[in-house]
Amino acid sequence: MKKKSEQKLWGGRFNSSTEDIVEQLNASIEFDQRLFHEDISGSIAHAKMLASCNIISIKECDLIVNGLQEIYEEIKNGDFNFQIDREDIHLNIEAALIDRIGSVGAKLHTARSRNDQIATDIRLFTRKECTAILQELRNLRRVLLNIAEQESQIILPGYTHLQRAQPILLSHHLQAYEAMFSRDSQRFEQTRLNANKSPLGAGALAGVTYPIDRNFVAKELGFDSIITNSIDAVADRDFILDFHSAASTTMIHLSRLAEEIIIWGSSEFNFLTFDDAFATGSSIMPQKKNPDVAELIRGKCARVIGNLVQSLTLLKSQPLAYNKDLQEDKESFFDTVDTVKICLIAMHKMLPTLGFNTENMYKAANDDFILATDFADYLSKKGIPFRDAHEAIGKLVLYCENNQLAFSDLSLEDFQKSHALFDSDILDMDIHTALSNRNVIGGTGPESVKNERDKAMSRLDLEENSHANPKN
Ligand code: ARG
Repeated sequence: MKKKSEQKLWGGRFNSSTEDIVEQLNASIEFDQRLFHEDISGSIAHAKMLASCNIISIKECDLIVNGLQEIYEEIKNGDFNFQIDREDIHLNIEAALIDRIGSVGAKLHTARSRNDQIATDIRLFTRKECTAILQELRNLRRVLLNIAEQESQIILPGYTHLQRAQPILLSHHLQAYEAMFSRDSQRFEQTRLNANKSPLGAGALAGVTYPIDRNFVAKELGFDSIITNSIDAVADRDFILDFHSAASTTMIHLSRLAEEIIIWGSSEFNFLTFDDAFATGSSIMPQKKNPDVAELIRGKCARVIGNLVQSLTLLKSQPLAYNKDLQEDKESFFDTVDTVKICLIAMHKMLPTLGFNTENMYKAANDDFILATDFADYLSKKGIPFRDAHEAIGKLVLYCENNQLAFSDLSLEDFQKSHALFDSDILDMDIHTALSNRNVIGGTGPESVKNERDKAMSRLDLEENSHANPKN
């Protein structure tokens, strides 16, 4: 029989040691060591609060803080020995502190539980990662707007049902993605706000019996406020769900963009080419240049959605307050953080390397019937109901198809056979007039698109400036 129980920081009421298999199942140190920075910051703030409330002496506080700072350096430099029998990041650091400074170190856990400790760590981590992802989202949005500006002349068909629908500007299309990612930014901003509240001081679940100052700790750690209800403070992981949800929506947006890049890069479309740095070859087919980066971004969306579902399922039906189930919130969370970040960065770096095949896009935009809506609008503006105009143009399409003609082959007489209200100016209509007729708010007309782009740029600059010196 191993005599490990007395080594455990919680081992007082145990007679025998933990089974190896339990140790393996229970330990989270392999992954939660990633929270060392947050764990030590939380402990330092807690120790300072204990001193300021005369629960420990200033001297004891100094010893604890110095010890924690040394441990921090050790971990940062890779010199720290994480031990599986010390379970998790909290106990590894606390035990190392006691090894280092003796019984004073054992005072750190006064008026605290690992339950409010982990809640604090993961909230600090969420806040940090929201800030990082917000920066990556801004980088991607900037790139989209820059390309939209540089390529403001490129015209391509806009699609519905993946069928050519109406001519649009590429910049308009890219700006639609910018709008999507700007909503993602709002979601991460909100997640950051939801996470940035202090649970520390809630103790195990019921609050603590010491005269602590929860606001002191909250201020020290840069939290906006405290989570008042101690049970909620240790049990709440809604902010993690918010994060997963924001991340999933972001990944869905990335996957839509990735999908379009893949389709546009196919020989069937031939709208763009991939730079060597963002493509890979085939081990068997020498001619291949594959868009793996876009495919991986599209594919990684699945694991992020999977992680969201895992977290929702994890919380479902959990009774209050803390349960060990909550330890299972971390790996999926870390995975999502890393996945979203790498995909945002890869997309932002890949976009400027895409070579747009302007001529092919233009050719496709001049599809035989792409001006059908514009022709119907032409007639309806001359006074006939739009439905009748629609019917007349529908018939004209049929006539062209039966005679293997495009709209551009039609003479004025052909038009007039379809409807007497057609005049010679119908022959001047082309995709350029179709675009300039849409200089309406949010339309694909070049002036409207530029206006919207300027506004999006200003919004982005504003966001960038307000995040230039984050408080924490
Ligand atoms: N490793 C644990 C977690 O991630 C820390 C909290 C453990 N608390 C407890 N009472 N066992 O949730």
